Amino acid sequence: MKTSNRVLNLKDSPTLELNDAINRKILNGEDIINLTVGEPNYYEPKESSTAAIKAIQKHFTHYTASAGIEPLRKAISEKLIKENNLKFSPEQIVVSNGGKQALYNTFSTLINQGDEVLIPTPAWPTYFEQVKLCGGTPTPIKLNEDSAFKLTPEILQNSISSKTKILVLNSPSNPTGATYSKEDLLTIEPIIEENHLIVISDEIYERLVFSEDKFISPLSISPYMQSHSILVNGYSKAFGMTGWRIGYSAAPIAISKKINAFQSQTTANISSISQIAAQYALNHFDTNHVNNLKNNRDKLVNTIRTKTELDLRQTPTGAFYLFPNVSKLLGRTLFGKKISNAGDFCQLLLDKVGVATTPGDIFLAPENIRISYAKDAKTMDKVNERLINFFERSVLNGN
Ligand SMILES: Cc1ncc(COP(=O)(O)O)c(C=O)c1O
Repeated sequence: MKTSNRVLNLKDSPTLELNDAINRKILNGEDIINLTVGEPNYYEPKESSTAAIKAIQKHFTHYTASAGIEPLRKAISEKLIKENNLKFSPEQIVVSNGGKQALYNTFSTLINQGDEVLIPTPAWPTYFEQVKLCGGTPTPIKLNEDSAFKLTPEILQNSISSKTKILVLNSPSNPTGATYSKEDLLTIEPIIEENHLIVISDEIYERLVFSEDKFISPLSISPYMQSHSILVNGYSKAFGMTGWRIGYSAAPIAISKKINAFQSQTTANISSISQIAAQYALNHFDTNHVNNLKNNRDKLVNTIRTKTELDLRQTPTGAFYLFPNVSKLLGRTLFGKKISNAGDFCQLLLDKVGVATTPGDIFLAPENIRISYAKDAKTMDKVNERLINFFERSVLNGN
């Protein structure tokens, strides 16, 4: 049987694939700490699980409105006003099966064949695959440590062509943790506006910000940005609710109606039980998660800078990833093995000290690796010890 051309080159999500492979090894008894996955070590607020159990007992288990139940969309609308200074009515919100579906709905609603979608890289690989599935042309804007992995007006201007329709922003970023300040956003806003770009703002790591400055939604910096952007967010990262599959989009009303039409014809509502859990989660975000992640980050950054040969120029201010550069190690031989690329280094780290990380080529940054540090403090102590041990032994073993 022949597949459609659309899916001919479609691959499984490489980050999920890698995570599954590492978890299989762990199940087989291997002593591995899995730092590949973009998943927190904490769980939903207890108010959510209690409300969800009650919902099942009361048989709140039938179809709901495709866009989500009214109280949940109202709660999200109020959250956006209170926390982000963004005015979206409940009708402008569609609750989806994770941020992933909210993004796919949005790309499907906006992209025509051949439209260019600018994706600043390093970036989460799903953006590329979803844009291609919708017939668009994903166009990477290559960023690196020189601009702290952030767009500058010059870089953005030089990336725009007559076919450019959409710019994807992801602040804080997976995989770099880079977070745009208000000043950063104000410098690129005029270029976005002059070129009539639509922004898709993926704010899924919004609550996980460690700097003194609060998170700033790109939509909040100008009237143009609010009226020409689609905001995507979800519960996976902030509330540790990856398996509940809760995300949402907030968009101008005409776009939101089409996003809802698209969803109602493809999957309809997300689980009714998850919706109840989501409604109760919003006011119960645990700020301890942010403090714990910040501690993990600080210790790991210190280890990397003082005890390893990995290069970390900027301390990321959000999400739960470090994205150090391994270029100093390329071409060298460690433990008798030549390191030709970041993947070789990740493999050696796994083989020698049982620490699993993700090669940067998955994010279009072949000289970096991603380390997810959303683990408990004890596990992170072990990670720090193992990294130190790796670099101490590598000096003795053919450096
Ligand atoms: C940048 C980014 N956006 C969106 C998502 C989607 O998450 P979910 O579908 O679990 O809400 C992820 C998950 O890894 C992500 O890293």
